[in-house]
Amino acid sequence: MNKKNAAQNTDGKSTGKAASQTGTKRVESLIRTSPSVLWAGRLAEKPAAEAFAFQASISVDKRLAFDDIAGSKAHVAMLGKQGIIPRDIAAKIGRELDRISAELRAGKLTIDENAEDIHSFIEGVLTERLGDAGRMVHAGRSRNDQVALDFRLYLKRVVPELRAELAETIGVLLDQAEQHAASIMPGYTHLQRAQPVTLGHHLTAWCAALERDFSRFADALARLDECPLGSGALAGSGLPLDRKAVAGALGFSRITLNSMDSVADRDFALELSSACAITMVHLSRFCEDVVLWASEEFKFIDLAEAWSTGSSIMPQKKNPDFAELIRGKAGRTAGNLVTLLTLLKGLPYAYDKDLQEDKESLFDSLDTLCSCLRMFRGMMRDAQFNLKRMKAACGGGFLEATDAAEYLVRKGLPFRNAHETAALIVRDCIAAGQRHITDRSLAELKVRSKLFEEDIYRALTPAACVKARSLPGGSAPKEVRRQIRALRKKIR
Ligand code: ARG
Repeated sequence: MNKKNAAQNTDGKSTGKAASQTGTKRVESLIRTSPSVLWAGRLAEKPAAEAFAFQASISVDKRLAFDDIAGSKAHVAMLGKQGIIPRDIAAKIGRELDRISAELRAGKLTIDENAEDIHSFIEGVLTERLGDAGRMVHAGRSRNDQVALDFRLYLKRVVPELRAELAETIGVLLDQAEQHAASIMPGYTHLQRAQPVTLGHHLTAWCAALERDFSRFADALARLDECPLGSGALAGSGLPLDRKAVAGALGFSRITLNSMDSVADRDFALELSSACAITMVHLSRFCEDVVLWASEEFKFIDLAEAWSTGSSIMPQKKNPDFAELIRGKAGRTAGNLVTLLTLLKGLPYAYDKDLQEDKESLFDSLDTLCSCLRMFRGMMRDAQFNLKRMKAACGGGFLEATDAAEYLVRKGLPFRNAHETAALIVRDCIAAGQRHITDRSLAELKVRSKLFEEDIYRALTPAACVKARSLPGGSAPKEVRRQIRALRKKIR
């Protein structure tokens, strides 16, 4: 039994001035013994400092400060309207919360790193300043539904910013793609030169992936757009709370269905962690292209000096460190996703303290993705492409062989025969030391198929090959420009 509490009277009304003063004193003494500890009433003994710090989450959840304040404001206003606490006190608490928010922004109030978590800290400050009025805030609420709310509010605020970063990144890539809609380059499969495409086609491929990420984040946002407040610790509340009013005041579309699910569920975090990991895997692959292109072997891209680094020993070096680092950081976002999946998989319903570990990994993924998008965008905006090298790389590797086969198909030959004929011609060329199918005379070509005519020479230039692929999705410059327009519309 807690002796200190046994001696205390905790039901004193804060109506009279004297009562309010003793109330304040009582709170002060509690705060003095256990700074910002909300559960000090039950336990006579405090954890040792190291143990307290171990279970605290303030270092991570302090970034939820403004969301916590917003949540408390809506909750308290509702408590006042419902007559659960006096209206004037609700208004007073609301004003104090505004003041705390302004002071935090101005740096006049700093978050106490010794507090247990952001919820305890804000409630502690309120109570320190308002006495008994501050002690009314938590009616009908638990930190379990409070943290579920704060986390969602934070994500509703931050994920749209991340989507804006994504849209801007896609915009920069589409600008480059547009400029290079007709710039010929080799397309690869198995990292072997395959068929001529355009740089615009390649960059637009990246953008198609990023646009799906852009919409993936929106999907996740739409699903998490429900307010868990009113779920209490797990079972809801017997007080006449107005959950819908709170949800509306906080800008949620709806309230959660089930109070136990509300405090136990973190699949919204999983979805976002997954969206971050997927986007980072995309960026990582683009960066792999960039690293290859920046090599002496490819020499397709010239990264700006400001987006390159040198070597401490090799004076000639210009390294694509930014691309490499983004590629490297994709690993941690994949790790963060696994962290969260593993964290959740064995948890009994409803809330468990393990859940406190959810935020750090998602915050890291969101932060990592945000900075990587910004860096990748800058690097790509300032990059120059070596168009001559790209075009030259389309020559000599028989990238036109598929088009030669399609030429024969257009003249009525079954594709398998056409494929075989083109393959034999490639062998003829290699045997004769020729680098292009068009290096052979019409007579030589006719040995393999009578269907070849003079027009084959025009059909097999890289530009003609590219232009012929005018189907939706293809690499014809006109079609690539259409894809660019379509993507621009989607990210508006
Ligand atoms: N810091 C906690 C978290 O992030 C808040 C909820 C604590 N609830 C509790 N019953 N201890 O999950």
